[in-house]
Amino acid sequence: MKPPSAGLIAGGVVGIAAIVLISIGTPNNRKPPAAIAATSSVAAPSSVAANGFTLASTSVDLPVDEATYPDGPHADVVNANCTACHSASMALTQPALSEDQWKATVTKMREVYKAPIAEQDVPAIVAYLTALPGQKAAAKP
Ligand code: HEC
Repeated sequence: MKPPSAGLIAGGVVGIAAIVLISIGTPNNRKPPAAIAATSSVAAPSSVAANGFTLASTSVDLPVDEATYPDGPHADVVNANCTACHSASMALTQPALSEDQWKATVTKMREVYKAPIAEQDVPAIVAYLTALPGQKAAAKP
């Protein structure tokens, strides 16, 4: 038997691709399943029991995650430099640190984690962090 020509194979591939694309349809043809709207009005049972196990619903209070730093002198500099990688809670939940310890933390953000913080902004950032309400009791070295 003669092997199929390259043209025939190419035509077959194009034909199969066309059938697949037509069966997928345009994005507008895909409607969300009606079941989602229908079930949302039905309250979920608070507990389900089967085979000796009981699964009960409960509610959980998640810890507050402050996205930005609270107002204060230099808060704008801190919010501009310290919110790109992690939320403000990362700094706001630290124990009371001395000025030198805060300076070391900001230096670590710059040198180890490569935070693009301008050298001349560092004193303002350190002053802001040292003056945070939870930091007032910081032991002075
Ligand atoms: C380039 C990304 C980046 C930027 C910008 C950044 N950080 Fe971080 N920061 C990190 C990473 C990564 C960690 C480590 C996270 C971990 O351990 O889970 C971290 C951790 C911290 C911690 C936890 C204590 C520690 O030493 O690890 C503090 C406090 C902190 N950052 C403060 C700051 C402050 C203040 C600024 C602004 C001057 C800042 N960060 C900007 C990446 C960044």
